[in-house]
Formats: sequence, structure tokens, C-alpha cells
Amino acid sequence: MTYLPALRIGSHQAQYCIIQGGMGVRISGANLAAAVANAGGIGIISAVGLGMNSPYFDPNQRNPLQRQRQFFEANRLALIDELTQARALSPTGIIGVNIMVAARDYETLARTAAEHGANLIISGAGLPLKLPDFTANYPDVALVPIVSGARAARIICQKWLRNYHRLPDAFVIENPRSAGGHLGATLEELDSPHVDTNVTVPELVNYLKNDLKQDIPVIAAGGIWSRADVLQALLLGASGVQIGTRFITTDECDADERYKAFHVQAKAEDVVTVASPVGLPGRALRNAFVDQVLAGDRPHAGLPCLANCLQVCKFRDKQEPYCILRALDSAARGDMEQGLVFSGSNAGQSDRIRPVAEVMAELTGTTLS
Ligand SMILES: Cc1cc2nc3c(=O)[nH]c(=O)nc-3n(C[C@H](O)[C@H](O)[C@H](O)COP(=O)(O)O)c2cc1C
Repeated sequence: MTYLPALRIGSHQAQYCIIQGGMGVRISGANLAAAVANAGGIGIISAVGLGMNSPYFDPNQRNPLQRQRQFFEANRLALIDELTQARALSPTGIIGVNIMVAARDYETLARTAAEHGANLIISGAGLPLKLPDFTANYPDVALVPIVSGARAARIICQKWLRNYHRLPDAFVIENPRSAGGHLGATLEELDSPHVDTNVTVPELVNYLKNDLKQDIPVIAAGGIWSRADVLQALLLGASGVQIGTRFITTDECDADERYKAFHVQAKAEDVVTVASPVGLPGRALRNAFVDQVLAGDRPHAGLPCLANCLQVCKFRDKQEPYCILRALDSAARGDMEQGLVFSGSNAGQSDRIRPVAEVMAELTGTTLS
């Protein structure tokens, strides 16, 4: 196989079977998504917390209820801005939005993404059981749940068939042993053979093909860095891959340059798992902030809950262990001491910042024109 195969998801066909994973807060915005789409992949804007660093939100607004209302409206307006900008940068590319089911404004963001031209919605951190309802007027918007295995996929397929007479257009299956960001498994489960990609990907492919008798693409995510990794995922039966961490060290990545530089200088041993207020571990790069959390400190103790942004949040309820919105936003703005720098296990492989086109050429086995 010389080149990589194309990837069809719903009515959209990408030249290459590569999806850039949504990365919040503001790590993958319009700029990165458009660059990947222009290079023949699928670019994804992460909708999480976009309002934070936007002209529509004042974090110092004192009235908590007004602050909350303003935050959700800011998220919506900032998502429209990102989608508009991405479309201007990539008029014909495939652009999607990643929205966390666990976000309290999930429905609004899903409706907004569909109304403002997203070609697909990728959705995890919970089961997106009502997603088809929110996008019912936009049949061309492909719907892609993120799952950790065939069990979750089966539940989604059954509910969507029963309630909406439709199925997902693809599934992303994430490897919790290597993916960056929040993991779809507890620390104990990470050692279990049930989360091994060599098992979970073929299981999901088999369920969709042989039980459901449907041709639904499976996208493998987590720990994919090189072209060899992509080919290995295809050998397991996946139709494509979703890549996050590798796209951070690119010119077009939307994060502050200090964030990208921090990733370039990171070593494999800097990657750790750390508790998060959503109740699941996250994978991140070690820094002063992570060291504090690992030592049992509560770096944001005494600060108010900013926006009640999540369905489940230990910071809102018990001030533990920190405010995820503040932590991710600080990092994206370049605070490498007190920000939370999410990262997959492959950090340390990047020796410099490159253009997205160069990364895509290497992954696809093509040459830069
Ligand atoms: C900085 C960062 C932020 C992320 N944010 C999100 C997010 O907002 N929503 C989501 O579903 N996944 C998120 N992820 C997971 C990625 O979309 C992707 O699936 C994962 O990073 C793939 O593993 P890799 O980084 O080893 O390529 C994030 C990952 C990173 C590294």
C-alpha cells in the first residue's frame, strides 16, 4: 500500500483516512482544523470552553448566575466564529466539531455546529444518545460517537435505531493507554486486557459488520504518531485514524507558542496520568501544576466555580482537585507552570514545530508539492 485510502463518513469523503482529534481548550480551533482539511484530512474544532478566551466573556463578572449565562452564550458565539473562520480558510475541506456530552451546553453546541456548517460532529465523554435529535434538520451532518469498546457502540446503535431510525456514520474508538486528554477508563482498567486496542478495534469492527451487518467506519485513536502506526491501525480493521498530540507541534495549532514549545521539549517520561474534576483520569505533561495535584494539593482552592460548565464536576461540588476550565485555558494561553497541558503518551517524539502539510505528507506517504 503506497498511499493511504480515502475515508467516507456519511456524505463526506476525505482524500486521506486521517482525522485530527478535537483538542480543548482552544488547542484545535479554526486554524488547525482548516490546515488539516486543506491537506486532505478531516479537521476538528474542539467546542469545549471556547467562550473562555473570547470577547464575549468576562471571568471577573461577579454575579455567578450572570457569569454562567454569559459563559454559555460566549461558547455559542465563539463556536460560530471558529466555524466561520475555518470555512473561510478551507472553503471545500471537511471540518467537524468535537463536543463533550458531559458539557452542560452540549445540546446548544450540537445545534449550533449543525446550523453553522459543521460537516460532522464527534462526541464523547458520555454516550451521545440524543445527538440525532439535535441535528435532525441537518441530515448531511455526519454523527460520530467516541467509544471505548463494542459494548458502548451497541447501546448507541440500539437507542438510535429505536428512537431515530438511524445509525452513527462512524465510530471513534480511543485507546485509553495512550490517548491524550480525558481517558475513557479508570486507572485500574488501564491494565485490563479489555482496553487493549488489538482486541477492542477488531471487536468493534466485527460487531458492526457481522452482528449489525452495516458498513460503518471505525476510526482508531490514541498513540498514533507515524505512518507505520496508521498502517497498523488499518491492519486491525480500522478505516481510519484520529490523531491528536502529533498535531500540537505544528505551525497551525491554535495554542500559544509556549504550549507548542513545551511539547517539543517534553520527554516520554514527562507524560503522566492525573486526576480530573470530571472523575476520570487525564493524560498530561508533568509541570508545576501537575506536581501539585499529584501531591494532593488543590491549586484552585478558594476560587469560585466559574461557569458550572460540566454535568459532573468535583471542583464545583467539593473544590477538588482543580477547575478544569481554568487549568486548560491557562495552558492554552501559554502558562506552562500553572496550566494543565494534556498530551498523549507519544509526547517527546517531536523535535520541532512543522507545517501541518509536512506532517500530513509524512503520514500519507506523499511528497510536499
Ligand atoms: C491537548 C488535548 C486536548 C484534548 N481535548 C479533547 C476534547 O476536547 N474532546 C475530546 O473528545 N478529546 C480530546 N482529546 C483527545 C483527542 O481528540 C484524541 O482522540 C487523542 O489525543 C488521540 O491520541 P493521541 O494524542 O495519542 O494522538 C484531547 C487530546 C489532547 C492531547
